[in-house]
Amino acid sequence: MLPFVRVIIRKNPQAVSEYIADYIISRIKAFSPSAARPFVLGLPTGSSPEIVYGILARRYKAGEISFKNVITFNMDEYVGLPRDHPQSYHSFMYKHLFAHVDIQPKNINILDGNASDLAKECKDFEAKIAKAGGIDLFLGGVGPDGHIAFNEPGSSLNSRTRVKTLAYDTILANSRFFDNDLSKVPRTALTVGIKTIMDAREVVIVVTGVHKAKALQKGIEGGVNHMWTLSALQLHQHPLIVADEDATLELKVKTVKVRSDTDTSCISFQLTFFI
Ligand code: GLP
Repeated sequence: MLPFVRVIIRKNPQAVSEYIADYIISRIKAFSPSAARPFVLGLPTGSSPEIVYGILARRYKAGEISFKNVITFNMDEYVGLPRDHPQSYHSFMYKHLFAHVDIQPKNINILDGNASDLAKECKDFEAKIAKAGGIDLFLGGVGPDGHIAFNEPGSSLNSRTRVKTLAYDTILANSRFFDNDLSKVPRTALTVGIKTIMDAREVVIVVTGVHKAKALQKGIEGGVNHMWTLSALQLHQHPLIVADEDATLELKVKTVKVRSDTDTSCISFQLTFFI
């Protein structure tokens, strides 16, 4: 068990994404997946991972990585949005990653927000994760209000996959994908729970942009709490946050200084907190 949340700081979203793509590739390669022993990867949507997916697709085309023996589980999906709607997370994943790599369709798992029995859909999703042997690496983003997946402020840290009502801040943030029209943004979504994410053997979170600075500050400098669900990561056995410089703007000067002084770009918040 690692004694701290590792935070890697890179200059901008491009550098953050290159770091994460490299990291995922090295993890899959080290695992050496086969049909009998596939690598299980949890994936997010959102603008934060878009560049990562572009790099992964390019590196696949260059013959550097294969997704043939990778099983994926997506974090979340809107309820009631047709699967082929351009803003559904199904569409997003095929557009940005799945259509460009050799993943087998049978290995792709995305929650069905149009299932007739949503509670069953969520329960079955958890069962599928368990059947796959658990998630080896869960990649995630974070909302400006500190949510991971759609675990909005107030979500139980013990939560599992379920239906969730979206917070106003999230509807506002995501309205940019719906012609800036709040009324077009679905009000509910299916999402893995905090516990589902915490069960992954490794969690990697991408945090970029000044609009995420408060979420990062609350998530790593504050205590573990259910209002900034990113903070649950402090209890994970193998967490990694990769942030760009803009996202660090709310962090304590001393915290960020540890990075420049040591020039390691890898800082421990537990340690930093007590100097
Ligand atoms: C949505 C998704 C989250 C994502 C967040 C941030 O709410 N459910 O998984 O992390 O948006 O998205 P973005 O990267 O576009 O800021």
